[in-house]
Amino acid sequence: MKICVIGCGYVGLVSATCFAECGLDVICVDNNAAKIDLLLEGQVPFYEPYLEDLIKKNVDCNSLLFSKDLNAHIADVDAIFLAVGTPMQSDGKADLQYIYSAVEGIRNQLKGYTLIIVKSTVPIGTGDEIERTLLKSVAKENFDVVSNPEFLREGSAISDFMTPDRILVGCENDNSDKIMRDIYASLIANNIPYIKMKRRSAEMAKYAANSFLAMKVSFINEIADLCEATNANVKEVSKAIGYDKRIGNSFLEPGPGYGGSCFPKDVSALINIAHEHGSELRIIEGVKASNNRRKDLLSNRIIKKIKIGNNGDVVSILGVSFKAGTDDVRESPSLSIISNLIDSGVNVKVYDPRAIENYHKIMPDVRTCITLDEAISGADVIVILTEWDEFKNISLSSLKNKMKGNKIFDYRNIFNPETMNKLGFEYYCLGS
Ligand code: UDX
Repeated sequence: MKICVIGCGYVGLVSATCFAECGLDVICVDNNAAKIDLLLEGQVPFYEPYLEDLIKKNVDCNSLLFSKDLNAHIADVDAIFLAVGTPMQSDGKADLQYIYSAVEGIRNQLKGYTLIIVKSTVPIGTGDEIERTLLKSVAKENFDVVSNPEFLREGSAISDFMTPDRILVGCENDNSDKIMRDIYASLIANNIPYIKMKRRSAEMAKYAANSFLAMKVSFINEIADLCEATNANVKEVSKAIGYDKRIGNSFLEPGPGYGGSCFPKDVSALINIAHEHGSELRIIEGVKASNNRRKDLLSNRIIKKIKIGNNGDVVSILGVSFKAGTDDVRESPSLSIISNLIDSGVNVKVYDPRAIENYHKIMPDVRTCITLDEAISGADVIVILTEWDEFKNISLSSLKNKMKGNKIFDYRNIFNPETMNKLGFEYYCLGS
């Protein structure tokens, strides 16, 4: 089986590499020449654990190939995955320009039967629109369009691909179902559930899954606030409700708000899709509003408790990536929180073990630190925004000695409040 993956971004590159690892012949194409050059030199354009080694292994055994030239490869592949970005437009809708330019790029090049598989997250009905576009130049019997959403988390994308909770396939006939089963044969053989449904349901399921998870995060964040107000403890509450199998124990960690390349974009897109269909998603609209408000709420908690202005407190921010395990700062809550602090006149310095370069590209004027030691030395206040192991493993006594002040705002609950108080920190965490 020979497949082509269009798009060497996060989803495309991880999927292409894992398909090669599963035994398929894979060509991964991107029109960003610099990205392909980097990959051809054996470098990966972003950080994802184990990805670089897996790419090298599959490139070395010729099962994974990178190319800038889409036309050179389209004719002799059995299936084409569309894995291009569908970023959020300023009005909150998904921007489908990369999807349609990829479809335009292939529609006159297909030879024989080819399965077109949409991996990108796209609004419900996009598969139908792709089909209509392809029909302008390809005979009906020479292609099918399938929806096959991804559920890869940054930082654990390889294992999420290799051992997913399910493979979701939205297709309209038996032939495309059979090809999808062939493509995923090695995972199906490992008892991964393969769930087939109509194409529109699969497109919807992706948005519904991410919106539901975003809702869980916002829910526990609000419960954490209420725990603080009522002197309950959110860790205990999360544990108590998580034991109920109907609720489940994951995605119940309070934090500074959800971020990343998926949740904020997919929540906004789903709200827009509902409006376009004359429908209202009051819960999901509430999730979006709650998540936006959270960043202001948590910034204000810091601002109220510190000295601002000339000779004001030096506030050291630990963590800018939207979560641990990635160098991605897209829609990271830290962006808003740091900007709020700076706008209020706070003297800020920022450190992250992986994401500082990406942060510096978008916020070049903010003072950044090269090492954790530089970040904590002389700080009056520390604000933890990402749950990196490097922060969890810090020696608390040396932290105390190196800081000038003693205030810690731990917005990932990585430390034990009793220990922190005993050591003489003025410690603020979430939900207790
Ligand atoms: C998400 C989905 O999980 C994945 O299935 C999808 O296909 C892509 O989007 P990702 O964006 O990598 O993956 O991040 P995820 O691990 O889901 O976390 C999203 C956000 O929620 C992060 O900002 C994270 O810090 C936050 N979060 C998550 C919490 O604050 N608390 C939790 O308990 C879980």
